[in-house]
Amino acid sequence: MRTLTLHRSQIGRGPLVLVNRENALKDAPSAVLAPVDERRPDILMERQAARLLSACIAEIRGAGEIVPVSGWRSQAEQQRIWDDTLQESGVAFTRQYVALPGCSEHQTGLAIDLGKARAEIDFIRPDFPYSGVCQRFRRAALRYGFIERYPQDKEPVTGISHEPWHFRYVGAPHAHIMHERGLCLEEYTALLRREEVRCRLENGRTARVFYVPCAGEHTECTLPDGCCQISGNNVDGFVVTAWGEG
Ligand code: DAL
Ligand code: ZN
Repeated sequence: MRTLTLHRSQIGRGPLVLVNRENALKDAPSAVLAPVDERRPDILMERQAARLLSACIAEIRGAGEIVPVSGWRSQAEQQRIWDDTLQESGVAFTRQYVALPGCSEHQTGLAIDLGKARAEIDFIRPDFPYSGVCQRFRRAALRYGFIERYPQDKEPVTGISHEPWHFRYVGAPHAHIMHERGLCLEEYTALLRREEVRCRLENGRTARVFYVPCAGEHTECTLPDGCCQISGNNVDGFVVTAWGEG
Protein backbone atom coordinates (compact mmCIF):
# COMPACT_ATOMS: atom_id res chain seq x y z
CA MET A 1 0.00 0.00 0.00
CA ARG A 2 1.12 3.55 -0.60
CA THR A 3 -0.42 6.94 -0.10
CA LEU A 4 -0.64 9.70 -2.63
CA THR A 5 -1.78 13.27 -2.13
CA LEU A 6 -4.06 14.56 -4.86
CA HIS A 7 -4.67 18.24 -5.44
CA ARG A 8 -8.22 19.46 -6.04
CA SER A 9 -7.27 20.67 -9.54
CA GLN A 10 -6.67 17.04 -10.59
CA ILE A 11 -10.45 16.45 -10.53
CA GLY A 12 -10.58 17.97 -14.02
CA ARG A 13 -7.89 15.76 -15.54
CA GLY A 14 -7.71 12.20 -16.81
CA PRO A 15 -9.56 9.82 -19.15
CA LEU A 16 -12.67 9.52 -16.93
CA VAL A 17 -13.62 13.18 -16.73
CA LEU A 18 -17.37 13.68 -17.13
CA VAL A 19 -17.98 16.76 -19.23
CA ASN A 20 -21.60 17.69 -19.93
CA ARG A 21 -24.15 20.50 -19.46
CA GLU A 22 -23.96 20.19 -15.67
CA ASN A 23 -20.20 19.69 -15.49
CA ALA A 24 -18.21 22.21 -17.49
CA LEU A 25 -14.49 21.81 -17.99
CA LYS A 26 -12.83 22.92 -14.79
CA ASP A 27 -9.73 24.42 -16.34
CA ALA A 28 -8.03 24.77 -19.70
CA PRO A 29 -7.14 21.23 -20.75
CA SER A 30 -3.45 20.44 -20.44
CA ALA A 31 -3.50 17.42 -22.76
CA VAL A 32 -0.61 16.81 -25.11
CA LEU A 33 -2.26 16.64 -28.53
CA ALA A 34 -1.34 14.64 -31.63
CA PRO A 35 -2.90 14.12 -35.09
CA VAL A 36 -5.09 11.03 -35.44
CA ASP A 37 -4.44 10.59 -39.17
CA GLU A 38 -1.43 11.82 -41.13
CA ARG A 39 -3.77 12.84 -43.97
CA ARG A 40 -5.56 15.22 -41.60
CA PRO A 41 -2.82 16.85 -39.49
CA ASP A 42 -5.33 19.48 -38.34
CA ILE A 43 -7.50 16.95 -36.45
CA LEU A 44 -6.03 16.31 -33.02
CA MET A 45 -6.67 14.18 -29.96
CA GLU A 46 -4.90 13.64 -26.67
CA ARG A 47 -1.72 11.76 -27.63
CA GLN A 48 -2.54 8.35 -26.11
CA ALA A 49 -6.12 8.43 -27.46
CA ALA A 50 -4.81 9.40 -30.92
CA ARG A 51 -2.36 6.49 -30.92
CA LEU A 52 -5.03 3.97 -29.87
CA LEU A 53 -7.57 5.29 -32.36
CA SER A 54 -5.07 4.86 -35.22
CA ALA A 55 -4.21 1.35 -34.00
CA CYS A 56 -7.89 0.41 -33.88
CA ILE A 57 -8.60 1.70 -37.38
CA ALA A 58 -5.51 -0.14 -38.66
CA GLU A 59 -6.62 -3.40 -37.00
CA ILE A 60 -9.96 -3.39 -38.81
CA ARG A 61 -8.31 -2.19 -42.05
CA GLY A 62 -10.48 0.92 -42.01
CA ALA A 63 -7.90 3.52 -43.10
CA GLY A 64 -9.33 5.60 -45.94
CA GLU A 65 -12.84 4.27 -45.31
CA ILE A 66 -13.22 5.77 -41.83
CA VAL A 67 -12.24 9.42 -41.68
CA PRO A 68 -11.81 11.76 -38.72
CA VAL A 69 -14.24 14.70 -38.91
CA SER A 70 -13.68 16.63 -35.67
CA GLY A 71 -11.33 16.05 -32.74
CA TRP A 72 -9.99 18.46 -30.16
CA ARG A 73 -11.72 21.86 -30.15
CA SER A 74 -10.68 25.06 -28.44
CA GLN A 75 -13.28 27.09 -26.54
CA ALA A 76 -13.32 29.54 -29.47
CA GLU A 77 -13.97 26.74 -31.98
CA GLN A 78 -16.77 25.21 -29.89
CA GLN A 79 -18.30 28.71 -29.60
CA ARG A 80 -18.07 29.20 -33.38
CA ILE A 81 -19.71 25.79 -34.03
CA TRP A 82 -22.46 26.64 -31.52
CA ASP A 83 -23.08 30.10 -33.06
CA ASP A 84 -23.05 28.83 -36.67
CA THR A 85 -25.37 25.89 -35.90
CA LEU A 86 -27.74 28.16 -33.98
CA GLN A 87 -27.97 30.47 -36.97
CA GLU A 88 -28.32 27.72 -39.56
CA SER A 89 -30.50 25.19 -37.74
CA GLY A 90 -32.13 26.88 -34.74
CA VAL A 91 -31.95 26.43 -30.99
CA ALA A 92 -33.64 23.01 -30.62
CA PHE A 93 -31.31 21.31 -33.12
CA THR A 94 -28.26 23.06 -31.68
CA ARG A 95 -29.01 21.91 -28.12
CA GLN A 96 -29.56 18.37 -29.41
CA TYR A 97 -26.24 18.06 -31.26
CA VAL A 98 -23.82 20.73 -30.03
CA ALA A 99 -22.57 20.98 -26.46
CA LEU A 100 -22.51 24.41 -24.84
CA PRO A 101 -19.09 26.03 -25.21
CA GLY A 102 -17.12 25.01 -22.12
CA CYS A 103 -19.21 21.84 -21.75
CA SER A 104 -18.00 19.86 -24.78
CA GLU A 105 -15.83 16.84 -24.25
CA HIS A 106 -14.20 17.69 -27.59
CA GLN A 107 -12.42 20.38 -25.58
CA THR A 108 -10.65 17.69 -23.53
CA GLY A 109 -9.01 16.04 -26.54
CA LEU A 110 -10.66 12.73 -25.58
CA ALA A 111 -13.50 12.82 -28.15
CA ILE A 112 -13.55 12.21 -31.89
CA ASP A 113 -16.27 12.39 -34.53
CA LEU A 114 -15.79 9.83 -37.28
CA GLY A 115 -17.43 9.59 -40.67
CA LYS A 116 -17.69 7.07 -43.46
CA ALA A 117 -15.58 8.40 -46.33
CA ARG A 118 -17.64 10.07 -49.06
CA ALA A 119 -17.52 13.22 -51.18
CA GLU A 120 -19.67 15.29 -48.82
CA ILE A 121 -19.46 14.76 -45.07
CA ASP A 122 -21.86 16.54 -42.74
CA PHE A 123 -19.70 18.20 -40.08
CA ILE A 124 -22.33 18.18 -37.32
CA ARG A 125 -23.93 14.78 -38.08
CA PRO A 126 -21.54 12.63 -40.14
CA ASP A 127 -22.81 9.31 -41.38
CA PHE A 128 -21.39 6.41 -39.34
CA PRO A 129 -23.74 3.45 -39.86
CA TYR A 130 -24.22 0.33 -37.72
CA SER A 131 -22.93 -1.87 -40.54
CA GLY A 132 -19.80 -2.67 -42.52
CA VAL A 133 -16.48 -1.10 -41.62
CA CYS A 134 -18.06 1.40 -39.20
CA GLN A 135 -19.61 -1.39 -37.16
CA ARG A 136 -16.34 -3.32 -37.21
CA PHE A 137 -14.70 -0.21 -35.76
CA ARG A 138 -17.40 0.12 -33.07
CA ARG A 139 -16.84 -3.46 -31.90
CA ALA A 140 -13.04 -3.27 -31.89
CA ALA A 141 -12.99 0.21 -30.34
CA LEU A 142 -14.11 -1.11 -26.94
CA ARG A 143 -10.85 -3.05 -26.59
CA TYR A 144 -8.94 0.14 -27.33
CA GLY A 145 -10.88 2.04 -24.66
CA PHE A 146 -13.42 3.95 -26.80
CA ILE A 147 -17.15 4.12 -26.13
CA GLU A 148 -20.03 5.41 -28.21
CA ARG A 149 -20.76 8.33 -25.91
CA TYR A 150 -24.32 9.30 -26.89
CA PRO A 151 -26.41 6.15 -27.42
CA GLN A 152 -30.04 6.36 -28.50
CA ASP A 153 -31.54 5.12 -25.25
CA LYS A 154 -29.50 7.47 -23.05
CA GLU A 155 -30.67 10.80 -24.42
CA PRO A 156 -32.49 11.79 -21.19
CA VAL A 157 -29.31 11.07 -19.20
CA THR A 158 -26.65 12.57 -21.48
CA GLY A 159 -28.78 15.54 -22.60
CA ILE A 160 -27.52 14.98 -26.16
CA SER A 161 -29.32 13.24 -29.02
CA HIS A 162 -28.14 9.94 -30.45
CA GLU A 163 -24.72 10.47 -32.07
CA PRO A 164 -23.50 7.25 -33.75
CA TRP A 165 -20.36 9.10 -34.92
CA HIS A 166 -19.06 10.46 -31.59
CA PHE A 167 -16.55 8.31 -29.73
CA ARG A 168 -14.96 9.04 -26.40
CA TYR A 169 -11.75 7.60 -25.03
CA VAL A 170 -12.19 6.41 -21.45
CA GLY A 171 -9.59 3.63 -21.53
CA ALA A 172 -9.82 -0.08 -20.94
CA PRO A 173 -11.22 -1.64 -18.78
CA HIS A 174 -13.81 1.16 -18.37
CA ALA A 175 -15.12 0.91 -21.93
CA HIS A 176 -15.61 -2.83 -21.40
CA ILE A 177 -17.43 -2.41 -18.07
CA MET A 178 -19.69 0.33 -19.41
CA HIS A 179 -20.59 -1.72 -22.48
CA GLU A 180 -21.22 -4.91 -20.51
CA ARG A 181 -23.47 -3.13 -18.01
CA GLY A 182 -25.15 -0.83 -20.55
CA LEU A 183 -24.03 2.35 -18.81
CA CYS A 184 -23.26 5.75 -20.27
CA LEU A 185 -20.52 7.84 -18.66
CA GLU A 186 -22.97 9.73 -16.43
CA GLU A 187 -24.29 6.40 -15.07
CA TYR A 188 -20.82 4.87 -14.69
CA THR A 189 -19.63 7.91 -12.73
CA ALA A 190 -22.65 7.55 -10.42
CA LEU A 191 -22.18 3.78 -10.03
CA LEU A 192 -18.56 4.18 -8.94
CA ARG A 193 -19.68 6.63 -6.27
CA ARG A 194 -21.88 3.86 -4.82
CA GLU A 195 -19.69 0.79 -5.20
CA GLU A 196 -16.35 -0.64 -6.23
CA VAL A 197 -16.37 -2.45 -9.58
CA ARG A 198 -14.21 -5.42 -10.56
CA CYS A 199 -13.53 -6.59 -14.08
CA ARG A 200 -11.79 -9.76 -15.28
CA LEU A 201 -9.48 -8.94 -18.17
CA GLU A 202 -8.72 -11.05 -21.24
CA ASN A 203 -5.22 -11.83 -19.95
CA GLY A 204 -6.63 -13.42 -16.77
CA ARG A 205 -5.78 -10.44 -14.57
CA THR A 206 -8.40 -8.30 -12.86
CA ALA A 207 -8.98 -4.59 -12.58
CA ARG A 208 -10.51 -2.97 -9.48
CA VAL A 209 -12.10 0.41 -10.01
CA PHE A 210 -13.02 2.57 -7.04
CA TYR A 211 -13.94 6.15 -6.22
CA VAL A 212 -12.16 8.49 -3.82
CA PRO A 213 -14.16 11.61 -2.91
CA CYS A 214 -12.37 14.93 -3.01
CA ALA A 215 -11.71 15.91 0.60
CA GLY A 216 -10.82 19.56 0.01
CA GLU A 217 -7.71 21.25 -1.30
CA HIS A 218 -5.74 18.01 -0.80
CA THR A 219 -6.99 14.41 -0.75
CA GLU A 220 -5.00 11.55 0.74
CA CYS A 221 -5.49 8.50 -1.46
CA THR A 222 -4.41 5.00 -0.43
CA LEU A 223 -3.37 2.90 -3.40
CA PRO A 224 -2.97 -0.87 -3.50
CA ASP A 225 0.40 -2.29 -4.55
CA GLY A 226 0.91 -2.77 -8.25
CA CYS A 227 -0.08 -0.77 -11.25
CA CYS A 228 -2.64 1.99 -10.66
CA GLN A 229 -4.13 4.78 -12.69
CA ILE A 230 -5.89 7.81 -11.24
CA SER A 231 -8.32 10.04 -13.11
CA GLY A 232 -10.45 12.90 -11.93
CA ASN A 233 -14.19 12.59 -12.59
CA ASN A 234 -14.60 16.36 -13.19
CA VAL A 235 -17.40 16.42 -10.59
CA ASP A 236 -16.41 15.62 -7.04
CA GLY A 237 -13.56 13.14 -6.83
CA PHE A 238 -11.17 10.69 -8.35
CA VAL A 239 -11.37 7.21 -9.85
CA VAL A 240 -8.59 4.72 -9.10
CA THR A 241 -8.03 1.75 -11.39
CA ALA A 242 -5.81 -0.94 -9.90
CA TRP A 243 -4.63 -3.91 -11.91
CA GLY A 244 -3.91 -7.15 -10.06
CA GLU A 245 -3.79 -10.94 -10.22
CA GLY A 246 -6.85 -13.20 -9.95
N1 DAL B 1 -21.62 17.00 -30.43
C1 DAL B 1 -21.14 17.01 -29.08
C2 DAL B 1 -22.24 16.87 -28.11
C3 DAL B 1 -20.31 18.24 -28.78
O1 DAL B 1 -20.55 19.28 -29.37
O2 DAL B 1 -19.48 18.15 -27.90
ZN1 ZN C 1 -18.52 14.82 -31.30
